[in-house]
Amino acid sequence: MSAKIPSSEITPKHAYLTRRDFMKAAGLAAGGAILAACATPPAPTPAPSNPQSGKTDERGDPANTYEDITNYNNYYEFTTDKEGVARLSQNFPTDPWQVEVTGMVRNPGTFGLEDLIKAHPPQERIYRLRCVEAWSMVIPWQGFPLASLLRAVEPTSAAKYVRFQSIYQPQNMPGQKEPWYPWPYQEGLRLDEAMHDLTLLATGLYGGELPAQSGGGIRLVVPWKYGFKSIKAIVKIELTDQQPQTLWNEIAPHEYGFYANVNPAVDHPRWSQATERRIGEFSRRDTLLFNGYAEEVSHLYADMDLTQNY
Ligand code: MTE
Repeated sequence: MSAKIPSSEITPKHAYLTRRDFMKAAGLAAGGAILAACATPPAPTPAPSNPQSGKTDERGDPANTYEDITNYNNYYEFTTDKEGVARLSQNFPTDPWQVEVTGMVRNPGTFGLEDLIKAHPPQERIYRLRCVEAWSMVIPWQGFPLASLLRAVEPTSAAKYVRFQSIYQPQNMPGQKEPWYPWPYQEGLRLDEAMHDLTLLATGLYGGELPAQSGGGIRLVVPWKYGFKSIKAIVKIELTDQQPQTLWNEIAPHEYGFYANVNPAVDHPRWSQATERRIGEFSRRDTLLFNGYAEEVSHLYADMDLTQNY
């Protein structure tokens, strides 16, 4: 693969529906969604979500609505207010978008989003997303396995980890003007976790483009780990032989480990992880080991004590 795919090869982006048209097309009522507050500390009982799309995950759980998914977000580069991210990010430029892939690879390069989509055609993946704060959603992403990109850039035999870095753009991201976070946001995976077929680079949501508040241009989705591992607005992917530093681990190492696998038996130091609030539901659910993906991923951790490697 060439180091840089020429922009002349960019495919015309398919005509996305505007959000309102999309909502109509999907038969969803615009507005009317009353969003649940984060369940920690316990919040008042939320109203149910607005009408569902008919999409479900593999367990039969209904997908949250587009309104839910795009109006209740964790995105500290904009604000710590989950219901304020959509407004503050509405003019954030996600197109054009480029990702640099570098470090211990044979074919490093900088790739435009359209070129990535052309080389790795997106597929729909309906995943549960479980935030470390004990709320969850079911989200229909479009994306491609990170493994597909990694195979193309060919990690060298020395590479053991993948480091991800979000965009740093304080002029457009008011939260990055706050000095108390070590920007840019960064995350990491072990190489075998990164190569797992469930690990997705998401480029779309509900059949449309990936809105800024959901991590557009492109984000990671690692469904068996707490949501903070699913880093948004990625501009750099680096193969390395060192375990990467991560933003939350740097701030609070005893609260947010490198692995961050969803585990009902390992509590956060300040709250229980045994149950969770699915946004749009009345009562709490039991948290599932590896967020319900144990069959697919538990072999990755066969030799590890998950209470120590949290
Ligand atoms: N990525 C960046 N760059 N900045 C963030 O603040 N928050 C994380 C993760 N990725 C975050 C991020 C957290 S804590 C969660 S739970 C998920 O994004 C939330 O994703 P969502 O807003 O699409 O539901």
